[in-house]
Amino acid sequence: METPREEWGSKIGFILAAAGSAVGLGNIWRFPYMTGENGGAAFVLIYIFFVIFIGFTIMLAELTIGRHSQRNAVGAFEAIFPKTGWKFIGVLGIITGIGILSFYGVVAGWTLGYFFKTLLGDFSRLSGETSFQDVFAGFIGNPVSEIVYLAVFIGITIYIVSRGISKGIERWTKILMPLLFLIIILLVIRALTLGSGVSKGLSFYLKPDFRALKPEIFIRALGQALFSLSLGMGAMITYGSYISKKDNLLSSAAFVVLFDTVIALLAGLAIFPALFAMGMSPKGGPGLVFLVLPSVFDKMPAGTFFGAAFFLLLAIAALTSTISLLEVAVAYFIDEKNWSRVKAAVFTGALAFVVGVPSALSQGASKWFHKIPLVHIPFLDFMNALFGNYALTVGSFFISIFVGWKWGTGAAAKEIALGAGGFKLRAVWAFSVRFFAPFAIFLIFVYLILTGRFF
Ligand code: TRP
Repeated sequence: METPREEWGSKIGFILAAAGSAVGLGNIWRFPYMTGENGGAAFVLIYIFFVIFIGFTIMLAELTIGRHSQRNAVGAFEAIFPKTGWKFIGVLGIITGIGILSFYGVVAGWTLGYFFKTLLGDFSRLSGETSFQDVFAGFIGNPVSEIVYLAVFIGITIYIVSRGISKGIERWTKILMPLLFLIIILLVIRALTLGSGVSKGLSFYLKPDFRALKPEIFIRALGQALFSLSLGMGAMITYGSYISKKDNLLSSAAFVVLFDTVIALLAGLAIFPALFAMGMSPKGGPGLVFLVLPSVFDKMPAGTFFGAAFFLLLAIAALTSTISLLEVAVAYFIDEKNWSRVKAAVFTGALAFVVGVPSALSQGASKWFHKIPLVHIPFLDFMNALFGNYALTVGSFFISIFVGWKWGTGAAAKEIALGAGGFKLRAVWAFSVRFFAPFAIFLIFVYLILTGRFF
């Protein structure tokens, strides 16, 4: 209490850090493969709908809880209503953060591996018989490199988080995100000029076919929206706690939501035309972008350079996301248990690594983790659905109930108005937090339980 809370170095520092948390593998790896598996354009439309009407609502709710309480994800609820059960939303968030980090670290490790592979020219040397598919399967099926890359990635995350908020996080994001954005634009241009198949890809991605709509699409599109925006587990509560009272929460939230969504939509625009031009199936699952993009770079002038740069920047974008996943737990142990930053980062990071090992081995290295009992999917895919979809959705439901019905939209709106010089959309937002968001989530869950298609 006595020492003032660490704050972001500047307003732009906070926006960059929040955008850095949001933009990551969710946009470039998860969004395209989810879209491919769930019917294309119809999924995209529902996703955009949820981003606007639920994502933005929850984003503002989380940032507001954080800035008002100036505390971590658990302490925030405790500060607003002491000695109630609401703090368990935060506890769920900490568990979810470690759960997501465990499999996210594995995929982030793939991007690191692909950076080295592209740099060393592994893809330009491919002959007829060995395809991009074989390279990928061989890579993710190797137990040693899978575990080493996971360890390296989580190790870097621990290092940066242990050095603290503004020093560690802001520095990374400032220069590198615009560069990533630039390479994605180049990829889009190349993909759109690949010739035959491009129009088929575009219509898959942009022309909704509502006959392809299956019940589970709704939960997946919602889960994807929350995942991509880093919502539902207190990451934005934690980041919000470092924002100054002078900053504008409304415009910050709007910017992050917009930027994140544009990046995801552009990634899709690069992937689908290329995928169809190469005659591949959109249902490639978690390996999708690792199969499609290397061959696009292969067909690009200076492809080795752009390919290597892309995978490196993607790894860094993933890093600014894993930082936020770890920071939720770390902030909790610092605030509530008086741990040092280093101790908290090492302990929680190591935990995520251990939980991540079965995911790392699930993509071909171990039969057992490749098809786990009951659900019959790889462990990584299971964790991705459990934490990346369901836990975030449940968390968002309770956050909206907390702000809408317990704390009250009046009190929250006062906090939002600070630094924003008013809050014009207040009634719309209040309606969404109180009614629309929780009801929509509730209905989706009822639907899911009735149809029984969880995984
Ligand atoms: N949003 C990030 C991405 O799209 C992943 C992420 C970081 C995240 N922090 C989170 C997801 C908190 C959910 C909750 O890659």
